[in-house]
Amino acid sequence: MTDPNEEIEKQNVEKRSQVDTHTPAEKLADVSLDPEIRSDNETKGIPEAESSLTSDVSEDVAPAVEEFMAVAAEQNEAAAEEIAAQDNNVEVAPYISFEDVSKAFGDLKVLEGVSFFVKPGETLCILGRSGVGKSVSLQMLMGFLKADSGRIRVAGEDICAFNEKQMQEIRKKVTMVFQNGALFDSITVGENVAFPLREKGELDEEQMRQIVKGLLEMVGVAGMDDLLPSDLSTGMKRSVAIARALASQPEAVLYDEPTTMVDPLMAHLLGNLIMRLKDQLHLTSIVVTHDMRLAEKLADRIFFLHEGKAVFFGTMEEMRKSKDPIVQEFLDLDDLVLPV
Ligand SMILES: Nc1ncnc2c1ncn2[C@@H]1O[C@H](COP(=O)(O)OP(=O)(O)OP(=O)(O)O)[C@@H](O)[C@H]1O
Ligand SMILES: [Mg+2]
Repeated sequence: MTDPNEEIEKQNVEKRSQVDTHTPAEKLADVSLDPEIRSDNETKGIPEAESSLTSDVSEDVAPAVEEFMAVAAEQNEAAAEEIAAQDNNVEVAPYISFEDVSKAFGDLKVLEGVSFFVKPGETLCILGRSGVGKSVSLQMLMGFLKADSGRIRVAGEDICAFNEKQMQEIRKKVTMVFQNGALFDSITVGENVAFPLREKGELDEEQMRQIVKGLLEMVGVAGMDDLLPSDLSTGMKRSVAIARALASQPEAVLYDEPTTMVDPLMAHLLGNLIMRLKDQLHLTSIVVTHDMRLAEKLADRIFFLHEGKAVFFGTMEEMRKSKDPIVQEFLDLDDLVLPV
């Protein structure tokens, strides 16, 4: 039997070699600007998830957003190559990993010897019941919480002994979309998204306005620039949080339950967006979710947490074949709730 990890690696190498024939700018510009090409795609039945990231962006700001995204895509490809070059083996080194990580809060053991990895450009979905430590795991990757033992790698570096200043550098590459969005309440939606752009200080006001407008259109909340976060629904806040994350041109995004508490249409839109970000920006992602449909759509690998332990780590196909009763129960329940 072939090793599933090798198989994924092979598929990703194939995918990369296919896309490498076009520059990121060409790929992003592909369908977004020319309405004829767009309608051609529609008639050919090219699925929404495969359409260009900027296909919902208005024409006046599309060139600026495409340029911005192209820079991000190039940077992510370069970062992936750098990490690959770190390793002398044929196997690509992980971008993010937990190795035998444990974490307790007082007597409450949350994680006990947990291991998983995410390679550059891949998506890992973390599944598990409420309270098993999914959000805690993401917070440890961001350096907001420290592991009691084990090794954590982020952006290819061992962060366990990192101080706050070093973590701030890591957080420029890896950003998190929190369950509640974690927007700045006192400034407008537009200023929230502009925040990372202002911090970088590379763009003038007009360029920033264009990027903010385009990013908000991309995530499905067009024209909300002047509202305050308190004026938005949960789903809209989540979308704005994704737009703000993208404004920082990250190499990796950690999404904490991106589709919970939003309507099915918004969930569909956000799911497709995460997939397109992966395909077109080569973003490395971790998606914490209870949504099996989303996991099926996005995951290169699944990590299933239960009672502090990793009961499963592998592909969706392997998960379906897993004999583990806990995994099976989760899958059966999901089939009951959401019949195919
Ligand atoms: N800072 C903290 N101090 C003490 N206990 C904490 C802290 N953060 C989380 N916990 C506890 O750790 C456990 C795991 O919490 P976590 O938020 O990771 O769950 P989760 O898997 O994300 O659940 P959900 O699906 O409901 O979001 C919970 O019992 C929680 O109460
Ligand atoms: Mg959580």
